[in-house]
Amino acid sequence: MKAAVFHKMGDISVDNVDDPRLEQDDDIIVRITSTAICGSDLHIYDGFVPQLRDMVLGHEFMGVVEDAGRAVTNVKKGDRIVVPFTIACGHCFFCSQGFHPSCTHTNPEHYGPRGDLLKSKGGGMFGYTDLYGGYNGGQAQYVRVPKANAGPKIIPDGLTDEQVLFLTDIFPTGWSAVKWGKVKPGDSVVIFGSGPVGLMAQKAAWLNGAERVIAVDPLQYRRDKARNVNKVETLDSEDDDLMDKIYDMTNGRGADVAIDAVGMEANRNFLEKAKAVLNVEKGTAKVIEMCTEAVRRNGTVSVVGVYASPYDNFPIHRIFDKGLIMQFGQAQTHMYIDQCFDLVQSGKVVLDDIITHRLPLSRASEAYDMFKNKTDDCVKVVLKPGLDN
Ligand SMILES: NC(=O)c1ccc[n+]([C@@H]2O[C@H](COP(=O)([O-])OP(=O)(O)OC[C@H]3O[C@@H](n4cnc5c(N)ncnc54)[C@H](O)[C@@H]3O)[C@@H](O)[C@H]2O)c1
Ligand SMILES: [Zn+2]
Ligand SMILES: [Zn+2]
Repeated sequence: MKAAVFHKMGDISVDNVDDPRLEQDDDIIVRITSTAICGSDLHIYDGFVPQLRDMVLGHEFMGVVEDAGRAVTNVKKGDRIVVPFTIACGHCFFCSQGFHPSCTHTNPEHYGPRGDLLKSKGGGMFGYTDLYGGYNGGQAQYVRVPKANAGPKIIPDGLTDEQVLFLTDIFPTGWSAVKWGKVKPGDSVVIFGSGPVGLMAQKAAWLNGAERVIAVDPLQYRRDKARNVNKVETLDSEDDDLMDKIYDMTNGRGADVAIDAVGMEANRNFLEKAKAVLNVEKGTAKVIEMCTEAVRRNGTVSVVGVYASPYDNFPIHRIFDKGLIMQFGQAQTHMYIDQCFDLVQSGKVVLDDIITHRLPLSRASEAYDMFKNKTDDCVKVVLKPGLDN
């Protein structure tokens, strides 16, 4: 089959690789109809999350069940499904509490309680390096989906791929961000990052009753997108008066909830980059810092942007002084997918309005380059293996 294979930093090509096979009784094989590129894929592409051998990337995918192991009862051959990006057993200590990204059964080599840099990590994820289970991903014609009784969700024919594709990750991620932030009716919510995840968090904030949603991003075209699709107010993260503007918009207090939908690859100036080199830091935690500044005292900071290394000089004093509540992590897709699906099916939310590019799988390399460098006003790319035929 054809698949988008990560070779090394900045090097992804569409190659011929072996077809996936059933390995366990509860595996299925899915023929991919649509798959997206995520900001999380860029962390591998840019070398922030290390991967030493070739791997098929992609954790946002959907398609049709082509084959199923004999223990699979949740889906059958021919079903059209979306698949959560984390791989989870559905019944361990963590899964049974809704914390499927911490599943104890899907990352045999590198799982553990410590959460170290290069060992003792969380549960498995599709196409997300050997540290997270070494599973090939779904930017391919076919993918093997383990634990098929726990994750995949059947999609009725009345909904198009594009209407539901983002149930695999970014809508439940935006939803998790808002739930972790404890957003309630009347709240002001400031969301850093208007990429795909930020845009989904904006939708989730409105759906949870926010009164004011303020989107912050350095890129004009992404702020325009946020205003156009989600009717939010926008601010430029590079504006020297950014924090004063946020306080002005929030009764001088700061926002009730601040969300980080940027992660460790946030824009940095020369000085910030030089400091990171001195401190041997990868990327930056500046957006978490901005969140702690923008949020009101005793408010909540919710972090879905990805971080993969430690940082010095973190403003713990401000977190203490302001009495902040914080929650971080991989999204609880398994827990929220049904609720998110119902919102799509009932028409309460539209997800496909963020898509800017639809390309055949064979153009994955070019698509990565465009999404990374934010050229051609790219916000979200959907790759369709079917367009190659
Ligand atoms: N926690 C999870 O489960 C989960 C799931 C999906 C994605 N993610 C993470 O969410 C983050 C965003 O993903 P994405 O697909 O939207 O990526 P993206 O790269 O398209 O979007 C990031 C956005 O942040 C903006 N930005 C950069 N510096 C900023 C700053 N200082 N202030 C405000 N905005 C700034 C960029 O201009 C860009 O628009 C990534 O770190 C990704 O790994 C996490
Ligand atoms: Zn993703
Ligand atoms: Zn589990």
